[in-house]
Amino acid sequence: MRLSGRSRVSRVSRVTRLAAPAVAALLALTTACTGSTVQGRPGASGLRDPYFPKAGNGGYQVDHYRLDLAYDPGDGVLHGKAVITARAEQGLSSFNLDFSGLKVEGVTVQGAGARFNRTGSELTVRPADDLRTGEVFRTEVAYSGKPKALSDPDGSEEGWIPVEDGAFAVGEPVGSMTWFPGNHHPSDKAAYDITLTVPKGYEAVSNGLLRSRTDTGDGRTAFAWHSAEPVASYLVTAAVGKFTVATGQTPSGVPLYTAVAAGEAEDGGPALARLPEMVEWGAERFGPYPFAAAGAIVAPSETLAYALETQTRPVFSGVPNEELVLHELAHQWFGNSVSPKSWKDMWLNEGFATYAEWLWAEEHGGPSAQRRFEAFLAGDTSVDAGAGSDWDAFPPAVPPGPEDISASPVYYRGAMVLHRIRQEAGDAKFFALLRGWVADHRHGNASTADFTAYAERKTGLDLSKVWDAWLYGKDSPR
Ligand code: ARG
Ligand code: ZN
Repeated sequence: MRLSGRSRVSRVSRVTRLAAPAVAALLALTTACTGSTVQGRPGASGLRDPYFPKAGNGGYQVDHYRLDLAYDPGDGVLHGKAVITARAEQGLSSFNLDFSGLKVEGVTVQGAGARFNRTGSELTVRPADDLRTGEVFRTEVAYSGKPKALSDPDGSEEGWIPVEDGAFAVGEPVGSMTWFPGNHHPSDKAAYDITLTVPKGYEAVSNGLLRSRTDTGDGRTAFAWHSAEPVASYLVTAAVGKFTVATGQTPSGVPLYTAVAAGEAEDGGPALARLPEMVEWGAERFGPYPFAAAGAIVAPSETLAYALETQTRPVFSGVPNEELVLHELAHQWFGNSVSPKSWKDMWLNEGFATYAEWLWAEEHGGPSAQRRFEAFLAGDTSVDAGAGSDWDAFPPAVPPGPEDISASPVYYRGAMVLHRIRQEAGDAKFFALLRGWVADHRHGNASTADFTAYAERKTGLDLSKVWDAWLYGKDSPR
């Protein structure tokens, strides 16, 4: 095969990124490649997300993750095997996975041993044979160690969080790389099969449906969880502990599975008891519940400083209140089914989930959304404590930096954007917009520009003044 000048350059530059012992092997591989018909180049090490440029990787999309994990809360050691089925979007001589900490014991691609090296949270894999554009390929990564949580740019903790007698995994925005290798950016959603093997006496909970619970015969229990609908990797969870488990279904038949940590109110409290009713309410307002299962995980209070809308089964720290249960449920439509294209689009998650709280409240004896909107403008905290926050500090579609993607303007001013649309469009068009948005982007990804274009098309209105003042404008709209 003739190598073009360009690929020679890329092959040389690749050498500079390798550890010395790998260089000789690479040169041998380069020679071997001249006899093959496939020629790849390295996949990008990041997707250039405006806030997390190294999150995710270029050159492939994942269809399915199979994670086989064994965890012992006694010593905090995780043994993992990840089987990642992906499709190459270009010829690949190497590709990256995001993975932080832990020890990689071995990597295979298409069944053959693959070379790998690690720099920061990038795991670079070089398959024995280059991958063709369009090729569906299987990567297996065996790993182990004590997973460590990460500190977010805003100072909160995420990733694998060990607690007194168990562990909880939460991954927004980039924490999932602390416990499994993957393409950790919301733009690459995939199906999951996660098997958690834990010592007898512990429960292990993840997303989706529990396919089986098996006594392994060696003093352990294996829990096999299945998510058929696509999941963004930040929404994948694993929870290990001594839990009270409750199962059931919503009135329309969505299976429920709720796990509450020992030491918390066994039933998860009165707000969680309303989850079935809330699922039905959400389906009426936003369209059919998007997943095959629902539920919740209640971790010991103070496990985390926040809750997370992990798919089908949000994680709460201690018994949640009604607003919080509703908020994390609303994310199943807004964020989980319709996911952000980049971390800049967080207000599409948080503004919508916050507005869902306002809608629930106005239909269940609380203040109207209009009253709340006015209270925010007036800074009147008697209606909503959030009115006393710096909700107008920056425009929600343009957080100043990665430390701001979960800050109050993203939530409150984001919700106020929706209320402004409702004021302009009226209830009929506004609710049709919400339903249409969810239906047309179901199990997909969307950006702010996608939303503003969609809203104008769907309502037939010119909403540029709303976008300018509320979404993008630097000045406070007060
Ligand atoms: N998405 C979560 C929620 O609003 C909050 C996550 C906060 N994470 C953080 N790093 N501050 O339900
Ligand atoms: Zn939220």
